[in-house]
Amino acid sequence: NSPQGLGSAPVNIALSKYWGKRDKVLNLPINGSVSISLPGLGTETVLKPLQTGQDKIVLNGEQLGADVTFAKRLSLFLDYFRSDACPAFTVETVNSVPTAAGLASSASGYAALVLALDDLFGWQLPKTDLSLLARFGSGSASRSLFDGFALWHRGEQEDGMDSFAEALDSHWPEFCIGLVKVDTKEKAVGSTVGMQQTVETCDLYKSWPEQAERNLQTISQAIIEQNFGTLGKTAEHNALSMHATMIATWPPIVYWQPESVAAMQIVWQLREQGTEVYFTMDAGPNLKLIMQAKDQDKVRNAFAEHGTQVDFILPFAE
Ligand code: DP6
Repeated sequence: NSPQGLGSAPVNIALSKYWGKRDKVLNLPINGSVSISLPGLGTETVLKPLQTGQDKIVLNGEQLGADVTFAKRLSLFLDYFRSDACPAFTVETVNSVPTAAGLASSASGYAALVLALDDLFGWQLPKTDLSLLARFGSGSASRSLFDGFALWHRGEQEDGMDSFAEALDSHWPEFCIGLVKVDTKEKAVGSTVGMQQTVETCDLYKSWPEQAERNLQTISQAIIEQNFGTLGKTAEHNALSMHATMIATWPPIVYWQPESVAAMQIVWQLREQGTEVYFTMDAGPNLKLIMQAKDQDKVRNAFAEHGTQVDFILPFAE
């Protein structure tokens, strides 16, 4: 039996967003963030040591050339874990979400890879340490080590040893996420490049770190108290504020499509009619609805009237 490591991790959606790095090499964020993981959507990875040669990277059953961006980034991350005994790896990774569709498959990808490394090398590290390692691959991956809600601490130290995520303990069966798919094509500007341009050129960004940390506190508290209204309102405001900084970047970064705005209007209309539903958006055109399980029919019907399908996910379903 040849040795191998297995890892699987869910995608996560930030309720209070990470946008901007204070250290590009260590992947340290300018602000903390908080997320919810989506069970059933994510990445499964099988990792095997190779005695010689280059990494072999297989994504959804297809071997990638070494010059493909995805493979290059993965190999760069694996550089941290090579040794004389294990100079290269075979990585077989399967995503149950479309790559780069704004559903953060890089987050579940690096979290699953770190779990596979832990399994292969028998480290048995605590989740918070694995979170710190996943952060090197992709910032938001630090949050995908956990089911349910996770809080990624900004940290203060220059070496980043205090910048990792941990679980926020709140079992909330009514909490529901709705996925509104506008477009699942590869995004035009990736988050790594996008946030860098924002930090460098956006005047509005100056107010972001303070707002983001304040929203993070409010949302974490609302999660503990299961105060849905406060959580939803703050998360939607936080996402729109992040997108305002993207739009005010030069050259401008606009992830929205006409269908994204149409979907926002359906959400606002539902709220006017008394249904408590909110949305958040990441570096892509798709909306993620923040809602309660009891409102699934109302939300499904309102979107169906516009010919749009919503997929519901209950992160705390038994
Ligand atoms: C808008 O984690 O993808 O989804 O650290 O450079 O890999 P890198 O960026 P990434 O950025 C995520 C940005 C976001 C907000 C969030 O998930 O918090």
